Amino acid sequence: MSDKNARPYGPVASERTPLKARKVSFSWEDTPLHWIPGDPFATHTINVLHLLLPAGERWFVHVYRQVLPHIRDERLREDVIGFIGQEAMHSQAHDEVLPHLRELGLDPTPYTAQVDWLFEKLLGDRTLPPGRARRWWLMERVAIIAAIEHYTSFLGDWVLNAEELDRRGADPTMLDLLRWHGAEEVEHRSVAFDLFMHVDGGYRRRVRTWATAFTALVFLWQRGARFFMDNDPTPAAGRASFKDFYLGGQQGVLPSTGDLLKSVPRYLSRSYHPSQEASTAQAIAYLATSPAATAAATATAERNT
Ligand SMILES: [Fe+2]
Ligand SMILES: [Fe+2]
Repeated sequence: MSDKNARPYGPVASERTPLKARKVSFSWEDTPLHWIPGDPFATHTINVLHLLLPAGERWFVHVYRQVLPHIRDERLREDVIGFIGQEAMHSQAHDEVLPHLRELGLDPTPYTAQVDWLFEKLLGDRTLPPGRARRWWLMERVAIIAAIEHYTSFLGDWVLNAEELDRRGADPTMLDLLRWHGAEEVEHRSVAFDLFMHVDGGYRRRVRTWATAFTALVFLWQRGARFFMDNDPTPAAGRASFKDFYLGGQQGVLPSTGDLLKSVPRYLSRSYHPSQEASTAQAIAYLATSPAATAAATATAERNT
């Protein structure tokens, strides 16, 4: 209750920023398998992002292209177009990590094949006739994306502040990928929710789709972490467990379980708006120094001269 009272009601205008995709690229050849040294479990728990995001963010883009004709607000349309550009780039950047994992002896294909099926078939367009059923399914997916984006923003904010990863000597290229992506998640954190509120906004739908998204994320994440740990070529890697997740959170190498649980009632609060979470200024400050984002900015400037 006190949490709710302490928060501003509705959108915080100063948190809005124009969105653009940064055409980043990363070289993976120097990144070790356990890029958080000595911590295969935390490494692989975060690595699950590379399994889920290529298909997941491609799916966001696919759904949003269908929603564009339903948008009656020019500013929101611009935001959605910026969001599409950023998510397409995120999907590609995480996809490019997978061949490197394969070279290190960890083939992700058995898992990514299932994730592809989930997003393309189960959450795909289905063969619905134009009309109510088709619109219902589109709105349902728009609401699911808004719920997922609550967590991508949560994770983005977490990784931007996860100084323990620096202290542990985590691989700088992987950290830059995660923080560039995390910063853009924070930058565009209001778009999916604003879009959902604009085209539907039903509270029951928000709660229902949050439950779907949360359950699916927990399920896919623990299966992904287990998949990586079971297939890690290092004999001492061990097995994935919830206890290790909890301890990783306590140590600061993973998000804390308590913070994750506390974020739930915030999303379900009727006064929720994503701009009340995280900091756009921090995201922009990171992007101004990120090696990948600054290289992308230089390359774009050179192309334009
Ligand atoms: Fe993203
Ligand atoms: Fe996002």
